[in-house]
Amino acid sequence: MDQASGLRDMVTSDTFLKRRTSMVSSRNNPIPRVLAVTSGKGGVGKTNMVGNIAVALKRSGKRVVILDADMGLANIDIIFNMRPDYNISHVISGEKNLKQVIVTTKHGVQIVPGGSGFTHLTNLTEGEKLNLLSEFEVLGELADIVLIDTGAGISSNVLYFNSAADECIVIATREPTSITDSYALMKVLSKNYGTKHFKLVVNMVKSEKDAKAVYSTLSGALERFLGNVVLEYFGSIPMDTMLPKAVINHSTVLDFAPDAPSGKAMEKLARKIADSPGRSDSNGNIKFFMQRILDTADKSDDYNQG
Ligand SMILES: Nc1ncnc2c1ncn2[C@@H]1O[C@H](COP(=O)(O)OP(=O)(O)OP(=O)(O)O)[C@@H](O)[C@H]1O
Ligand SMILES: [Mg+2]
Repeated sequence: MDQASGLRDMVTSDTFLKRRTSMVSSRNNPIPRVLAVTSGKGGVGKTNMVGNIAVALKRSGKRVVILDADMGLANIDIIFNMRPDYNISHVISGEKNLKQVIVTTKHGVQIVPGGSGFTHLTNLTEGEKLNLLSEFEVLGELADIVLIDTGAGISSNVLYFNSAADECIVIATREPTSITDSYALMKVLSKNYGTKHFKLVVNMVKSEKDAKAVYSTLSGALERFLGNVVLEYFGSIPMDTMLPKAVINHSTVLDFAPDAPSGKAMEKLARKIADSPGRSDSNGNIKFFMQRILDTADKSDDYNQG
């Protein structure tokens, strides 16, 4: 039996199904929406968008969990001025459970720190996968919306998180490198992972017209070369001097300068997320989200080994 089929058997076992059924019946809406925020090029504003949107969604009454899956240096805890002691690698190893690792901001946004924990998804033992999967079931009880800061580029972990999420928000700027890297990311996600729907947010713009120009370049290229991929224009965030100032002060711009235009734009994006129904073909609960990631990692590993 291969690892993936072993896990599939495990999640369809009686005990698991009973636990899942009781979870589903215990709340009206037990399945959180999972949104990945991603980009082809780094430094385009993912972490700030995730942090500020999380705060705005929380203020509107949603329970929000941020999953920091960015293995780079720009961690979400910086803009919340937090220094988590533990991260997901402690959950994977079984040293801690998820609730011991999660940190909560003053706004009530919960963060699952990634650290380097998600870097070795292809090499996890069966026991480590079990730890991750059973703890992710807990996450389903804590969140209405899970926002993932995926990190940039087309490295395997970025692709796994994007392809397993219910919705994929791509951030781009007007820079030609950002536009070509966004296209490359959507191309590989659609061709190799079957992701066919993306939402585009254009950051650091001078006007809505600039943002729409980026959208039309990208959607035109996708239509011409990939055909069946849908790119939805989701909105824009203006270039705003207050945003870097907020980061320097280890703060979200919504806290640092409540009237700043970038914060207003991100509040609008949060409202749009809250008001949209989410995907009707959502792939099930958060545990299955992690299951899909592990399955994809297994398959990629098989593929890489020939
Ligand atoms: N709307 C904006 N106006 C002005 N500056 C911005 C804006 N958005 C982001 N920035 C600047 O870009 C920097 C990088 O933003 P952020 O860390 O959110 O990007 P990222 O995509 O998460 O980067 P990485 O790929 O390195 O994780 C911010 O610290 C800020 O200085
Ligand atoms: Mg970042």
